[in-house]
Amino acid sequence: MGKSATRTGAKAESLPPCSGFEEKAVRLKAIGELRAALREWYAQHKRELPWRQNTDAYRVWVSEIMLQQTRVAAVLEHYRIFLNAFPNIEALASASEQRVLALWSGLGYYRRARMLHQAGRVVVSELGGMLPRDAEALRKLPGVGRYTASAIASIAYGESTAVVDGNVERVLSRLDGEPRDNASAWRRAQELLDARHPGEWNQAMMELGATVCTPRAPQCVACPVRFWCRAPGAEMDRPRAARKQMEMTRALIERAGRVYLVQRPGDAAKMAGMWELPECDAGGAKELCVLRHSITDTDYKVRVVSGGMKALLANRARAGRWVPIEEIERLPLTGLTRKILRKQGLR
Ligand code: ADE
Repeated sequence: MGKSATRTGAKAESLPPCSGFEEKAVRLKAIGELRAALREWYAQHKRELPWRQNTDAYRVWVSEIMLQQTRVAAVLEHYRIFLNAFPNIEALASASEQRVLALWSGLGYYRRARMLHQAGRVVVSELGGMLPRDAEALRKLPGVGRYTASAIASIAYGESTAVVDGNVERVLSRLDGEPRDNASAWRRAQELLDARHPGEWNQAMMELGATVCTPRAPQCVACPVRFWCRAPGAEMDRPRAARKQMEMTRALIERAGRVYLVQRPGDAAKMAGMWELPECDAGGAKELCVLRHSITDTDYKVRVVSGGMKALLANRARAGRWVPIEEIERLPLTGLTRKILRKQGLR
């Protein structure tokens, strides 16, 4: 199928199915054209993002870990600060975990940061500071799964290995007009991968899903692969579980330039060892503000009150500390705590 033919308005021609010997030549031609169209689109429309400035494996790795479960907009500033503090793997490996967590504060899913740190230490102590150069070896590092290993290997080292994230899964489902489970999405992604430009291809697929082939209100008219698409704009995402709605109250206890913070237990399931404002009951205390905060599958309505002796006493069983306001930044704070302190003008 010539591109010019389709551009003149001929009916969209979908990618032929991937089985059947007699269709092979047609299929390869169509896939070649689709690859060229996506590549051209990506070159012209990709967002200028800090991790795209070069293909240094460490920078790619940090970005891919941060981008898991987190939007690009939320990652940008954290990425800049993190890379400034830890410009290379040696700097990351020699930092304390508390410092790594402090700089991750606000990104959430802190296990990612702990694993990244642990992996950095493994690379420095056991691999001479060199990140492994292929996906299979990368996967042996803590916190590096199939997606991350393939992303690093393809983007930094040009390995022909496809990635599948939620965006890619949706693009593939619409292209072929069939919902895909995760295993079939990985297979299909590998078939379509442009083996000559795997890093660009992978990023282009993710970029297309993030900016054009979005879950709702996709921009099909701007899509570079619309001529090959069998189900333009179809609803393909699996239904999401309903989010929980909860309320809580936190006490801001301030004395002479210090704020009272408590540390979460080291064995807590979430945000272990991080620092936060103490919980309390709202009864009678002066309300300072109300804000919304979302963690994983729960949306919280958080009431912040000015805490006094009552709140202190209620938290006396927890490891607590009066922290000078100018030192707060050095502690690994939970995202909610950062948000409250910022809202109250204390950070
Ligand atoms: N999402 C996660 N990593 C990405 C990348 N490298 N390019 C585009 N979107 C992404």
